[in-house]
Amino acid sequence: MPSVKTVALVLFWAPGLGTSAASHIAKYNSDSLNGLLADSIQLTEQDIGDFSAIAFGDRAEAAATVSQREQHQRCRVFPGDDLWPWTEEWTRFNNSLDGALLRPTPAGAVCYPAHPAYDAAQCQFLLRDARSTRFWLDDSLTELAQWTQGSTCLATNETQAQGKNCTRGGFPEYVVNATTAKHVQIAVNFARNKGIRLVVKNTGHDFGGRSVGAGSLSIWLHHMKETQRLPSFSPGNYTGTAARFGTGVEAWEVSNFTAAHGGITVVAPGGNTVGGVGGWVGGGGHSVVTSTLGLGADQVLSLGVVTADGRYVTADPFTNPDLFFALRGGGGATYGIIISAVYKVHPPITLTTTSLSLTLSSASSPSIPATGAVVVRNADAFWTGVGLYYRFCGRVVEGSGGQGFSYIYPQADGGFRFTTTSTFLNRSRDEVSRIMQPLYTSLRQAGVLTAADADPTTRNSSIYGASRRGGTGDQPVNTRYRSRLLPRANWEDDARWTATMAAIRAATEAGYDENFYFHATLTSPTREVAGWPGADNAVNPAWRENLMHAMLMDVQPDNFTGQQARARDARMQRYTSLLRDVSPGAGAYINEADPGEPEWQQAFFGSNYARLLEVKRAWDPWQLFWAPTTVGSEGWAVEAVDGYPNSQNGRLCRSA
Ligand SMILES: Cc1cc2nc3c(=O)[nH]c(=O)nc-3n(C[C@H](O)[C@H](O)[C@H](O)COP(=O)(O)OP(=O)(O)OC[C@H]3O[C@@H](n4cnc5c(N)ncnc54)[C@H](O)[C@@H]3O)c2cc1C
Ligand SMILES: *[C@@H]1O[C@H](CO)[C@@H](O)[C@H](O)[C@H]1NC(C)=O
Ligand SMILES: *[C@@H]1O[C@H](CO)[C@@H](O)[C@H](O)[C@H]1NC(C)=O
Ligand SMILES: *[C@@H]1O[C@H](CO)[C@@H](O)[C@H](O)[C@H]1NC(C)=O
Ligand SMILES: *[C@@H]1O[C@H](CO)[C@@H](O)[C@H](O)[C@H]1NC(C)=O
Ligand SMILES: *[C@@H]1O[C@H](CO)[C@@H](O)[C@H](O)[C@H]1NC(C)=O
Ligand SMILES: *[C@@H]1O[C@H](CO)[C@@H](O)[C@H](O)[C@H]1NC(C)=O
Ligand SMILES: *[C@@H]1O[C@H](CO)[C@@H](O)[C@H](O)[C@H]1NC(C)=O
Ligand SMILES: *[C@@H]1O[C@H](CO)[C@@H](O)[C@H](O)[C@H]1NC(C)=O
Ligand SMILES: *[C@@H]1O[C@H](CO)[C@@H](O)[C@H](O)[C@H]1NC(C)=O
Repeated sequence: MPSVKTVALVLFWAPGLGTSAASHIAKYNSDSLNGLLADSIQLTEQDIGDFSAIAFGDRAEAAATVSQREQHQRCRVFPGDDLWPWTEEWTRFNNSLDGALLRPTPAGAVCYPAHPAYDAAQCQFLLRDARSTRFWLDDSLTELAQWTQGSTCLATNETQAQGKNCTRGGFPEYVVNATTAKHVQIAVNFARNKGIRLVVKNTGHDFGGRSVGAGSLSIWLHHMKETQRLPSFSPGNYTGTAARFGTGVEAWEVSNFTAAHGGITVVAPGGNTVGGVGGWVGGGGHSVVTSTLGLGADQVLSLGVVTADGRYVTADPFTNPDLFFALRGGGGATYGIIISAVYKVHPPITLTTTSLSLTLSSASSPSIPATGAVVVRNADAFWTGVGLYYRFCGRVVEGSGGQGFSYIYPQADGGFRFTTTSTFLNRSRDEVSRIMQPLYTSLRQAGVLTAADADPTTRNSSIYGASRRGGTGDQPVNTRYRSRLLPRANWEDDARWTATMAAIRAATEAGYDENFYFHATLTSPTREVAGWPGADNAVNPAWRENLMHAMLMDVQPDNFTGQQARARDARMQRYTSLLRDVSPGAGAYINEADPGEPEWQQAFFGSNYARLLEVKRAWDPWQLFWAPTTVGSEGWAVEAVDGYPNSQNGRLCRSA
């Protein structure tokens, strides 16, 4: 008898199911270790039949004929080109996908009176209410960092939209709404055989434009949401239990799953709607428990993957180990498309959090008098307080396995506001107060806290994952990250520490005139906490030495011209270099960094780069998977409209 869950899935899948799919479901019932339903429904030679556009590729042959192809095609085939598929071919492609092909209109079109989709009420919804719904997250085109798309169809006030046109810009031309490995395989084969740009989108959260691209076919993984508890999956030296997630599962859904299984722990991103499997794990993936349990990439025990030849393979420590190495930290959208992932399951843990807030203000009543905030009147005292916290916190995340999460915002009155939360694992409130006491003592000795200021309060403990607010709250923004992973060595030497704080202060103070703010997370994801098989993965070596992920949050106007963006970029590079200069040889976290990072190969991948490039060449000799600053992406570049740096609004062509 099929379980209730399986019956529901059968009904859900019914429209697209043929007889071959029905036999896969039988296989799924008999052995849950085979993967998810999405893994089990795969493309066969029979499905391909005489439709050669979706035939598999041959990696060995491709590797042998590279030079011939290079003369052949300068750019990926673009809409309007002679080689762009005929409508009939798109229809046949759609039929092979059981109708899962979409040609979506950009959501913001409803705000443009000249656009056929114009709808004033819907535009008001986008501007006022969409954020508190799942609208943006369920939209197949939306990319949260909107500048990466070219900002060609922003949801905007109708008065401002008057006289402007909404265009597709960097949004993909077609989208495959994938729910099975088979959908992904067909799309991979079609894009490769037709020479079309392929993009892979999960949640569209990427800050560097790695899930969007003009004239592309997009594979949208959002609806691959199956979950599975695997109580007896313990390969190699791993002794715990496991869980398997479809690649569309978001962080809050991981927590929902762990709550439903007695509060077990699965490491997931801090951001609720970030993909729990996709780019987060591909790029490393930090979280509040990282100092104790490792990065996202350290959790992976096995992956189901569709590779550039269109085949479905398993990657684990014993099967395709080179692919397994690369997919865990070597960057998303590079070596293959993850369909499902088996993660470590840890025992339940509690989190206990304490906050500290300092406001630098010369005004008699500071602009943001937050409750519990300490007002500091003197800039040197304020920066002394910030420095005392950061140095202390860096040490306690190592010693007590916690996390520091902080911001420094410029204030309207010329001052700054520093806020931070320090989080500890499996510690009582009293223990946390004791751990923090030396910091409060030194803040008093330095005159940052006065006798009148009480110690910051510590909140009650909660189960990790239990306090998620659900899957809403994120919407398109115009942030551009500039960041640096500052190493542990900077904490261990007074002179290096003084230079580090001087750099943070100088960069942050520049943000007052330049309209950016400072953000830092403090964690310690060493190889020791990564364990097995995590310690042997492709995570940026700079992460293993890291205590502070320091970020300059550059919120740009959404109507910048290419020239304005280039000028801004040049200035921001100078501020970021203040952080680079105090951390020679370190790097940056690809998922929260500038896609214009100079020498990004070293910064994002460090000494792993050469090995990753070999894996890339072996598994994707076509360079089908392309996204900015991913391994092996050097040979191609987007010719962006208006020269906007790192925008995906333009043709993808071979670099000159
Ligand atoms: C609100 C918010 C909160 C965040 N919080 C955190 C945090 O707490 N910790 C942290 O480390 N980062 C955080 N990030 C950064 C986050 O890690 C990156 O944005 C990451 O790229 C998101 O991956 P995604 O799959 O959700 O998004 P997408 O933009 O859909 O994908 C990102 C990249 O991965 C590729 N990709 C996606 N899925 C797959 C797949 N299945 N197989 C192969 N390639 C794939 C895409 O092609 C793209 O290149 C946050 C981002 C946002 C916007
Ligand atoms: C694909 O087919 C489905 C089902 O027939 C249809 O609803 C959809 O509009 C088609 N997609 C495109 C891009 O034509
Ligand atoms: C649109 O923005 C303009 C300029 O910012 C403002 O004057 C106008 O009131 C806004 N209109 C609506 C409908 O919100
Ligand atoms: C908008 O499109 C119309 C029709 O194609 C064109 O005439 C007009 O110049 C465009 N406006 C802008 C601002 O590009
Ligand atoms: C994508 O597929 C899912 C699952 O079949 C379906 O629920 C959803 O409505 C589809 N989305 C679009 C935009 O067609
Ligand atoms: C398991 O650990 C032992 C001892 O450290 C080691 O020799 C062995 O190679 C490990 N096995 C795997 C599969 O990594
Ligand atoms: C999971 O999320 C659903 C939808 O929000 C909710 O109804 C359910 O209670 C959640 N389950 C758990 C265990 O949190
Ligand atoms: C946290 O405490 C629980 C319950 O005592 C224990 O099972 C778990 O292993 C602890 N986890 C960590 C990371 O200390
Ligand atoms: C914190 O825990 C204490 C002791 O269990 C309890 O009395 C108090 O109500 C809790 N406070 C909050 C805000 O939950
Ligand atoms: C961008 O918008 C701002 C604020 O609405 C306006 O002052 C500025 O002139 C605009 N710039 C361009 C290049 O349109």
